[in-house]
Amino acid sequence: MEKTFIMVKPDGVQRGLIGEIISRFEQKGFRLEGGKLMNVSRELAEKHYAEHKDKPFFGELVDFITSGPVFAMVWAGEDVIATARRMMGQTKPSEAAPGTVRGDYGLTVGKNIVHGSDSPESAKREIALWFEEKEISSYEKAIESWVY
Ligand code: PPS
Repeated sequence: MEKTFIMVKPDGVQRGLIGEIISRFEQKGFRLEGGKLMNVSRELAEKHYAEHKDKPFFGELVDFITSGPVFAMVWAGEDVIATARRMMGQTKPSEAAPGTVRGDYGLTVGKNIVHGSDSPESAKREIALWFEEKEISSYEKAIESWVY
């Protein structure tokens, strides 16, 4: 079963959207395998966004993600990486479709509520960066026989 890393960013936590975001993924049929509220060190933020280190917004991005607690999660399910990205919506909230998290709740690209891995390689790297193996529970839910 595919796994992905999803994070409610500091603006999503402050706006009380953790439950709403969990609920959307749960109701879709995905399985939550790990989750924690945490403060992010600059070191972790810089590693997580390393591919953007030469972009003009890198400093702003690291400042933002370290500005308050985030809710980090591991989700599992069929095609969860691509499907979660579609449920999150386009990076720029002005381009995100209504019905997506960013389309419904976001207004700016800087504060766009949620992050999700964009490929199987990123998902593997990000899950290993944010979670220890013992913090992830792999299990099956009885309802999955009705999902798949
Ligand atoms: S790029 O240039 O297309 O590779 O970047 P993009 O995928 O659009 O964005 C990568 C992450 O950077 C965030 N971002 C920004 N943060 C602050 N300010 C500005 N101007 C800005 N532009 C992009 C964007 O939300 C992405 O964060 P994640 O957490 O990966 O969604």
